[in-house]
Amino acid sequence: MRIIRKILFLALAVTMASGLISCSGKPAAQSSESSLSDHTTQSEATTGNETTEAIETKKESPFGKAVVVYFSCTGNTKSVALKIASTAGCPVYEIVAAKPYSEEDLNYKNKKSRATKEQNDDKARPEIEGDITDWSSYDTVFIGYPIWFSKAPKILCTFVEDHDFSGKKVIPFCTSGSSGIGNSAKELSGLAKNGGNWISGTRFSSNVTNKDVSEWLDTLKENGSI
Ligand SMILES: Cc1cc2nc3c(=O)[nH]c(=O)nc-3n(C[C@H](O)[C@H](O)[C@H](O)COP(=O)(O)O)c2cc1C
Repeated sequence: MRIIRKILFLALAVTMASGLISCSGKPAAQSSESSLSDHTTQSEATTGNETTEAIETKKESPFGKAVVVYFSCTGNTKSVALKIASTAGCPVYEIVAAKPYSEEDLNYKNKKSRATKEQNDDKARPEIEGDITDWSSYDTVFIGYPIWFSKAPKILCTFVEDHDFSGKKVIPFCTSGSSGIGNSAKELSGLAKNGGNWISGTRFSSNVTNKDVSEWLDTLKENGSI
């Protein structure tokens, strides 16, 4: 009788232990994975110029698969780019010059500074370090840059000539001291490899808020631009 009681006790203990494993072990991990299944965690990047922040976003993005590509030397365009990325729920890719721009390179008052000389040279195509991954997978490209002497910096020409824009919607944006986007986006669209569908661009001030960006994206949706 004592032996039977011992066996019954052992069987009960084994049953309880396996129950505990199924609550705190793998099944729990699976359930947290499945709660992520209606969201996509898009790493802003793993390599090269893509930053490491992760942006969690809804899969049903109205922009298709989108990316924010930007160039920024003093942070204004970067700040706007990150706001667009977090609002639209997409990764960002920073165009990084192979030879970084120093403060003196950016001195627009000096006719001999690097930026002045490049902007005055139609053929200047500053080299980019690294490259964006999965370029062909994006349907929509937000492309941002500072205005330099009323134009996009020449490194943007390098980027658009080197990447195939066929079938892509392109949404240009810029920051500046005061100038508007002018013809800068139109000029880039004329250089872009295989064209793409470029909408007219927008100039943001560097202190734009998330709310402003969100309203801008809503307007683009409403007027069918994206
Ligand atoms: C070489 C150079 C030229 C510039 N030319 C203009 C210009 O024509 N009009 C303007 O409003 N701002 C001009 N700016 C100011 C920048 O467009 C502005 O500071 C921009 O927000 C910088 O962006 P970033 O911080 O992303 O580099 C110029 C700045 C530099 C460095």
